Amino acid sequence: MRISENIPTSWCEPWKIKTIEHISLAPPEIRQTALESAGWNTFLLPSRLVYIDLLTDSGTNAMSDQQWAAIMTGDEAYAGSKDFERLESVVQRVYGYKHLIPTHQGRGAEHILSQICIAKGQVVPGNMYFTTTKFHQEHAGGVFEDVIVDEAFDPHSGCPFKGNVDIEKLDRIVKRVGAAQIAYVSLETNVNMCGGQPISMANARELHAYCSKRGILVMLDATRAVENCYFIKTRESGYEDKPIAEILSELCGYTDGCTISGKKDCLVNIGGFLALRDDGLAQKAREMVVAFEGLHTYGGMAGRDMGAMAVGILESLDYAYIRARVEQVGYLGKRLESYGVPVVKPFGGHAIYLNAKDILPHVPQEQYPAQRIAGEIYLEAGVRTMERGIVSAGRDHDGNEYKPELELVRLTIPRRVYTQSHLDVVSEACARVCRRAESIGGLRMTYEPGALRFFQARFEPV
Ligand code: F0G
Repeated sequence: MRISENIPTSWCEPWKIKTIEHISLAPPEIRQTALESAGWNTFLLPSRLVYIDLLTDSGTNAMSDQQWAAIMTGDEAYAGSKDFERLESVVQRVYGYKHLIPTHQGRGAEHILSQICIAKGQVVPGNMYFTTTKFHQEHAGGVFEDVIVDEAFDPHSGCPFKGNVDIEKLDRIVKRVGAAQIAYVSLETNVNMCGGQPISMANARELHAYCSKRGILVMLDATRAVENCYFIKTRESGYEDKPIAEILSELCGYTDGCTISGKKDCLVNIGGFLALRDDGLAQKAREMVVAFEGLHTYGGMAGRDMGAMAVGILESLDYAYIRARVEQVGYLGKRLESYGVPVVKPFGGHAIYLNAKDILPHVPQEQYPAQRIAGEIYLEAGVRTMERGIVSAGRDHDGNEYKPELELVRLTIPRRVYTQSHLDVVSEACARVCRRAESIGGLRMTYEPGALRFFQARFEPV
């Protein structure tokens, strides 16, 4: 017997599977008809015709037995539910903000934050836009301005913290309009639109120092903050021995409040919240939440959902969990890379992004190359992905299409749902699509909704 010298120490998921849901691959001709009926928009495909669903990591999480137990014991009182108290105490302890305002999901929190903090014409600088976040900022009369570092726009840059705010860009805006004209700085963790790229603790600290000196608020989009903290722990010196909970608490400590879509990090299927430090702002938020979401002690969530979220938040802080979560995403990235598929590097925390400009260099951006590739991956193997490029970016006030630097296809990994073998199938499908890339053309849009067009737009091949 000769045992190899090089035995790796692999990670594995700190859970085993107790319930399964059957999936099957629809035949090619059914997939073709389904995609045509969906107008080549993967959001319009019925889930029953999807084999492996990497559309989003939002609300697609598998809950633990402990979370299901919380579902069964949920207190459905209209006011002052026990589960509100449970969630409030977890949020205060974990994220460190004094006030919890629950909402039905992330965009509900974004709506309320934007309405209470943005006056018409004020600027909202942010580290790249997110679709719903920017929508609500603009809906409240604000003007979003991007202050992310330049590396974020380069899919080939290996920069470990591509999500960082460029403080000089921010300073130029502040000098131009004056601090009083800044509603707040919108700081996203694991920036979705540039490939799930993290911010560093050093950057959050510097931003806090800059803003607090000038009386500017910093509002965190903490939707994927725990995943961001895993990158801080593994990439930023001084954090390698700190527990995830401590890193998260420091990160939030540099901000004045947060919005969260609980459907991601918090390991639930629905829910979100706004959390604030300031008493006055929290009072305004509570006045709004009753009009738009529900009473301030449930904000659109059932008691049981708040209970499951409280448990999920605590589970998300477990190092063995978060390591397996983020490393599984990296596993898909490495597989794709091994086949030569162009992907954004470093790998993101919740998704791998294919670089459509490299895959279909012959298709102009106005013919939606990323949207086309998402369709082709579905045709190839029933795998559902989504566009994050020109379609997601939408149009400016003059009606011109934004032409974002990044034209990406997102392969988003739901938490605790798929195994490495599922991801093997996915990577092989993507590689096959890339191999026939020369024969793939673009799309034309046949229906365009007025807002957040990527959800419902329809296309046909050119
Ligand atoms: N902020 C970020 C960074 C998000 O990724 C999302 C949702 C939201 C806010 C809004 O939260 O969906 O609960 O209303 N992202 C989903 C996605 C839709 O697929 O990336 P929501």
